[in-house]
This record gives sequence, C-alpha cells and structure tokens, in this order.
Amino acid sequence: MAVPADVFEEPSPAPRRLPRVLAGGGAHGPVSLREHVDRYGYPPAPGRHRRDRNAFVEMIERSGLRGRGGAGFPTATKLRAVARSRRRPVVVANGAEGEPLSAKDKVLCMTTPHLVLDGAVLAAQAVGASEAIVALDRLARDARVAIEHAIGERRAAGLDRVSLRVVDSPTRFLAGEESALVHWINGGPAKPTFVPPRPFERGVGGRPTLVQNVETLAQMALIARYGDEWFRTIGSPSEPGSALVTVRGAVAHPGVLEIALGTSMASVIDAAGGVTEKVSAFLVGGYFGTWLSATDGWNLGLSPEGARAAGGGFGSGVIVALPATSCGVIETATVTRYLAEETAGQCGPCVHGLNAIADDVAWIAHGRAEPARVERLRRWIGDVSGRGACHYPDGAVRFVASALDVFADEIDRHAYNRGCRLARHERVLTVPHPTYREWGWR
Ligand SMILES: Cc1cc2nc3c(=O)[nH]c(=O)nc-3n(C[C@H](O)[C@H](O)[C@H](O)COP(=O)(O)O)c2cc1C
Ligand code: SF4
Repeated sequence: MAVPADVFEEPSPAPRRLPRVLAGGGAHGPVSLREHVDRYGYPPAPGRHRRDRNAFVEMIERSGLRGRGGAGFPTATKLRAVARSRRRPVVVANGAEGEPLSAKDKVLCMTTPHLVLDGAVLAAQAVGASEAIVALDRLARDARVAIEHAIGERRAAGLDRVSLRVVDSPTRFLAGEESALVHWINGGPAKPTFVPPRPFERGVGGRPTLVQNVETLAQMALIARYGDEWFRTIGSPSEPGSALVTVRGAVAHPGVLEIALGTSMASVIDAAGGVTEKVSAFLVGGYFGTWLSATDGWNLGLSPEGARAAGGGFGSGVIVALPATSCGVIETATVTRYLAEETAGQCGPCVHGLNAIADDVAWIAHGRAEPARVERLRRWIGDVSGRGACHYPDGAVRFVASALDVFADEIDRHAYNRGCRLARHERVLTVPHPTYREWGWR
C-alpha cells in the first residue's frame, strides 16, 4: 500500500449513538481519504481464503443486516448466492435512487463517498469479484463528483485490489430496480427484465452480479470494522441497526436523517425540527408507500415491519408530513399519473390498468367524476393487484388504495363535485420534469 500507515492517527472508537453511516460526513463537502482513514482506520478486508470470506459473510448474517434499497432482503443470503457462482462475479453499488422524494443515497455518496466505496470493495472481496460499478442518478452531479474524486484518491494511494468505476443511471422510477439497472449497464433500456436468469445468476456482461444499495454497503463497511454485536446495539432484535430516511413536508428541517430502526414517527418529526403547521396525513415509504391518517402515522414505529403492520411498505425510507393546506386527493392524482407514465410499458396491467386508474383519480381530483367512478376505481385496483412481470403495479395501486381510505371524505367531496375544501393548495409531492425522463428507454 502506497500510503504509509503512520501518516494516520488512531481511528476513532465505534460510535455508540447516532449518527453512524453519516458520522463521517464532511460539513463542507465530501470527506477526503485522509479524513476518512483518520476516523475509521484502513478498510478491513476479508482474507483471500474461502474460509475467511465465509467468516465475513457469517458476521454479516449475525448482524441481521438487510438491504436498504427498498426490498429489505437479507444481505448475507445475497452475498452467499453470488459467492457460490463459478464465474467471476461483478458488484453493482446501486445509487440510482429512482424514488423522486428520496435523497438519502445522494447525501451519503456526496458526504461519505469512501464509506460507500469501502463497502463496495468489501462486498467484491467477499464474493470474489474484481470489479465494482457505482451507479448514480445522472442528475446527482455532486454525488458523482464526490465518488469519482474518492476513486481517484484511492487509486493514487494504491488502496484497493478491486477496480472501481461509475456509471450514470437514468432519472426514472424503475431505473434502480436491479434487473433494469443491470440491463442498462449492459447497454439496453433501463427496463426490468424480470425473467430468469436473475442478476445474481447472470448480470453485468453475463457474469453473476451482486446488486446492493449504497447505504447497505456503507452499513457493511461499519460492521466489518466494529462487528455484528455493535451493529445490533440499536434497532430491535428482528430489525437491528440504523437506516437513513428522507423527511419532507410540514417539518422545520426537511432532509436526510439517520434513525434507529423502529423509532417512532413522533421522535423522527421532532428530530426534523417538529411540525410547522397542522398535519392532515403522513405518507410513509414514498410513491410505492401508503398514506396514513395523522393519528396512525404519528404512532407508527418506522421500520419495514412497522410499515407492513400498518398495511404499507417502508421502501427507501421517505416520510412526508402532509400539511393541512395541501389536498391529499390532488397530490395522489399527480403521483398516480407519474407512476403510470413511468411504467416500462411491457405488460398489460401497467400499460392499460395504471393509465386507466390515473385517469379516474384525475377525474375525481378535478371534481368531474360521477360517484360510480370511485367504485370502479376500487374494482380496477383489485384487478391490477398481483399482476405485471415485476409487480410494479402493486406498489402503485397500494398507494392509490391507501388514498381512497385516508382521504375518503375529501374524495366524496371531489367526486360529488362539491370541489376541494381548499381555495388554493400547497404542492408537496413533486415529480421529475418529463424533460429529465426522456433518457433511459433507449
Ligand atoms: C420499482 C423498483 C425500483 C427500485 N429502485 C431502487 C433504487 O432506486 N435504488 C435501490 O438501491 N434499489 C431499488 N430497488 C430495489 C432493487 O431492485 C434491489 O432490490 C436493491 O438495489 C438491492 O440492494 P439492497 O439489498 O442492498 O437493498 C427498486 C425496486 C423496485 C421494484
Ligand atoms: S409490470 Fe410494468 S414495469 Fe413491470 S415489467 Fe411489466 S410493464 Fe414493466
């Protein structure tokens, strides 16, 4: 290694409290390699022998780490599946962050790029890969600059035996889905392939591919340093550790926070500076998530299990406090149209079902729907659920179905043409402009 070890001071001890993955974040931009190693020491590496690599995977298993990209799959199981392959695998660090309201992956890459790269290199060594690719939303320029600069620093220091490179991913909702991302890296459109072989069997360049969210990799880099028991000191036994969430809407300090899994909504909102006005509902899990009434949302424990128990999903940890000055029906209509436009257009339920559902939600929102439309909408939601090759429609209709429950009174008003209760309403749920969405379906 070209960097003499005595240049660096003793690494800081393991953080006892939060933040963890954000602890090393630079206040004035990304941390340098020197600052990173001062804090954490050199990245540990699993030995080259199979038994050392197995020991590393066992430690990840004991830690209980699950993916932070949305699906929540046990990380050790994926590492094992790829490590078993005969061909040399590839690692993809997924920072595509297709969910429009999520900013956690961008913030992480922008502030602590070396922790993400440590994780990518560790994962590559654990599965026997010699290459790791970091995929970043093409509009996340600061994140790209930070990661590329960090790769340059590591190269100059001769730090890694794994080659690292960055690819731009399209700004599309589906681009971060793992088979779509692999398809894109291979030169195809960023659309899910969703038929076997899956990426872990045959992915980038036809090689077995481990796709792991960038936050998962950063968490892995900390577990490698401080151990599985340390990881479990926060969170719950079934959902240990911390997670990044993006808090938006009627809070004093919207942004990315690191929380212990299971933390109550009330504490998270408090950490985001408290509410700035009356909140009429919460959206948990982003655009594939669910609306909850203000009371149900307030009492929710924020974790995948907590969100599931409330009938929704945690997704990539987006939380929106909807101000009472915003109309949940109009917000829902905007997002449903966006989700209908973002389908890959490969299966009937997406192409026909979601478009028809988006039309009906729009009619209701604009007070031009006969009441029978609401009933028809419920029927269509049932028809589309569980269909489509990649189950994309499931997330979209779950979001709409929760709106029908939580905003039932407003929907009645809108549908019976009595208009919106608000003279003007504040828009909260944003979607990327179509100009940015032209790329990716090539
Ligand atoms: C529609 C859809 C969009 C997704 N978008 C992302 C994304 O932007 N970033 C991400 O890391 N995972 C995303 N995922 C999950 C990935 O398919 C994959 O499970 C994940 O990258 C694996 O990493 P993890 O196990 O570390 O979470 C998406 C999944 C679906 C179904
Ligand atoms: S369900 Fe929709 S998004 Fe998924 S593959 Fe089919 S058309 Fe594409």
